[in-house]
Amino acid sequence: MKRFSTGSSAPPFTRRDFVKAAAAAALLSRTAWARPSASNRITLGVIGWGMMGPANTKAFLEQADCQVVAACDIHTAHLQAAVDTVNAKYGNTACKAYHDYRELLARDDIDAIMIAVPDHWHAVIATEAAARKKDIYGEKPLAKTVAEQQAIVKAVQKHNVIWQTGSWQRSVPNFHKAAEIVRNGLIGTVTHVEVGLPGGHHDFPGTVPALMQRLATLPDKIASPADIVPGSAAWDLAVTPPPAELDYETWIGPSKMEPYIDVRVYQNWRWNSNTGGGQLLDWIGHHGDIAHWGLGFDLSGPSEIEGHGQFPAANAVWNTATKYDIECTYRKEVTGYAGDVHLTIAGGSGAINMGTKWIGTEGWVWVDRGGFDASNPDWAKGDSLSEELRKVKLIESTEHRRNFLDSVKSRKPTITPVEVAHHSTLPGHLGLISMLVGRKLHWDVKQEKILNDPQASELLSRPYRAPYKLA
Ligand SMILES: NC(=O)c1ccc[n+]([C@@H]2O[C@H](COP(=O)([O-])OP(=O)(O)OC[C@H]3O[C@@H](n4cnc5c(N)ncnc54)[C@H](O)[C@@H]3O)[C@@H](O)[C@H]2O)c1
Repeated sequence: MKRFSTGSSAPPFTRRDFVKAAAAAALLSRTAWARPSASNRITLGVIGWGMMGPANTKAFLEQADCQVVAACDIHTAHLQAAVDTVNAKYGNTACKAYHDYRELLARDDIDAIMIAVPDHWHAVIATEAAARKKDIYGEKPLAKTVAEQQAIVKAVQKHNVIWQTGSWQRSVPNFHKAAEIVRNGLIGTVTHVEVGLPGGHHDFPGTVPALMQRLATLPDKIASPADIVPGSAAWDLAVTPPPAELDYETWIGPSKMEPYIDVRVYQNWRWNSNTGGGQLLDWIGHHGDIAHWGLGFDLSGPSEIEGHGQFPAANAVWNTATKYDIECTYRKEVTGYAGDVHLTIAGGSGAINMGTKWIGTEGWVWVDRGGFDASNPDWAKGDSLSEELRKVKLIESTEHRRNFLDSVKSRKPTITPVEVAHHSTLPGHLGLISMLVGRKLHWDVKQEKILNDPQASELLSRPYRAPYKLA
């Protein structure tokens, strides 16, 4: 299998490849889903086989009207695992393997794709997939920066493709019920919302102990990758050649080229700002998304954002915020509410509980994964509110991937369309920028601009490494 036996010595994607792909994408068009095949199944390509790619794909494999026909990853072992998983499910060898996602997207027999690559790659792949008229199941947060998110929204709208975001909490009864309680006015007018997220860093793949062992003989005590900075003996030991299985040059993609350090690549890319946004951006598309859903702010945003955080050294291996507190004000002139709504996002301080809590003039409701509590104990009973209380009914979905496939067929919006993903994550992106510049931001919700602050405005986007660009 030459195509995916390419290791780190593989030539990275070139500028000419990118220009060619963008031009080809512009020529394609598809306005409605209509499979000519006898099986009438939605054909799906999956891109990214790390933590979330397999979870999403396994859910798609359970759906009889969907067939996974292609998989892509730039790590040979991950790609092999993807193909093996799909083929084992179908009992054949039909799933095609791709090292280069553009070859997968170029197939016109693929209706839809699932993208579960690190955040710094979202926008490049998503905008090209939209230009190629693929319906897209894309992971949260929508992208690494606000400008990239805006580009994805534009591409999805322009090419009229279906988008589902991996903010799957919307497809879980507890979250749905909590959001409906708020939307039906059962807690009165909401004045304050608490969005509790994790703090610190978490060694997802468990690769840190091996590094710490290598550093144990050094005179300076190193407790975490957050203590390792360039120019130190620890840094010199942490930097290694990339493994042969990984095309690291492509993995870095549009981000700044940095030496390979394994504890900031697989899954732990979240803790380095070159590739991820820390716990804040990892979680805002979950509990922040649910907060907006309950408030009816799916297409709205805060006018004022003020964040304070604690960060390791800016050049440390893990450099994202370990503690943060962000205050957002949603102005009544923008939202149409009777008064301003204050939303607090906090992580790492223990000041507020994990999950989403809405506090209103007549009660409150709190929800988290596996947790639910409310000022009225009756609301805790059952999976959904009693019918007579449900004057406002939010869209219902029992399985997030199923909801995407239904929308691919009906051409109606999913439960978490692209515009929602964009707005749900804005408090996180803007909160991070406020922390970085050290002052309150004023956000024009309609124009989507930071007012009177050129330094903060610059952080809405990021430079791209050549030859990468958005389609
Ligand atoms: N919805 C959720 O609950 C949830 C949970 C975890 C992760 N996520 C999201 O899923 C995405 C992936 O996270 P993860 O934890 O699975 O990351 P990961 O590091 O475990 O896996 C990413 C995979 O993508 C591959 N990859 C990287 N660049 C690629 C490219 N250009 N082309 C093809 N493959 C490429 C990597 O080799 C790796 O196998 C992130 O956006 C993350 O925020 C969502």
